[in-house]
Amino acid sequence: MDWRNHLVSVKQFDAAAVAALFLSAGQLETQLDCGCIEQTLQGKVLANLFYEPSTRTSSSFAAAMMRQGGTVIGINDVAYSSVSKGENLADTIRTLGCYADIIALRHHEDDATEQAAAVSPVPVINAGNGKGEHPTQALLDLYTIYRRKGTLDGLTVTLMGDLKHGRTVHSLIQLLRPHGVRVRLVAPPELALPPAYMATGDVVMSDIADAITDTDVLYVTRVQKERLSAELGGKVFDYRVDQALMRRAKADMVLMHPLPRVGEIDPAVDSDPRAAYFAQMRYGMIVRMALVRDMVLARAEVPVLRVA
Ligand code: NCD
Repeated sequence: MDWRNHLVSVKQFDAAAVAALFLSAGQLETQLDCGCIEQTLQGKVLANLFYEPSTRTSSSFAAAMMRQGGTVIGINDVAYSSVSKGENLADTIRTLGCYADIIALRHHEDDATEQAAAVSPVPVINAGNGKGEHPTQALLDLYTIYRRKGTLDGLTVTLMGDLKHGRTVHSLIQLLRPHGVRVRLVAPPELALPPAYMATGDVVMSDIADAITDTDVLYVTRVQKERLSAELGGKVFDYRVDQALMRRAKADMVLMHPLPRVGEIDPAVDSDPRAAYFAQMRYGMIVRMALVRDMVLARAEVPVLRVA
């Protein structure tokens, strides 16, 4: 399925689709910098439907819409919607599909986006589905790498943290594959990357101090406490990027994190020019501006069939 109909997974993006998206994003980044963003989404409405907490994803989707002239219906806590009365996902999507031109959905179930796409009259974007995927995050992560490194060719990318439950990692690793990057995986054994996402050549390492010296991109994630099984619930996982570790890293390494961080990166590292996690947030809005615009406008090109 074309991602502009419904954006469910990074599997919908081949290299050409990524290149076209980044071209759009680059144009919008220039417009953002000069304060001259084209108001192409005037009169269009985005519905943000979030069954799980969010700061960056929901606000950046909203900003992406509003900065291009559109408006937003924000359901950022479904506890205050009819979901709390027992309304199911399909009916909630049908409802918002009557009011909005596009829906960004975050949900705790891994197949929620597929369920929503099956009934939605307007495009649905996966804004994080359980421990499954977070495709728009991975696209903004890739955009950040391009902007910082200029290329992916020959890079060594180290993924560290909760690789088992981290949906951003699950999406990013799939997006990286066609570019032939070397992948290193550093995780507590209980939080190792599921075999389905592994590929020949991936190197599993137990100590970040060994992995960091020839790493070009270090991508760190928090432990997804809310997704841990009961037996792991109380366990403390201890890993942290600090200034001592950064001293072992390459001078041009890129340090990334989808955020929120809850102790994995020492704030003392924030002023290090290699820290890219705040820039990553801004790139997130830019990439989402491109995604929302291309999805809504692709829709505007096809005749709308109205059901009485
Ligand atoms: C991530 C998520 O929701 O998966 N957050 C985000 O969208 N930036 C990462 C996380 O919550 O750890």
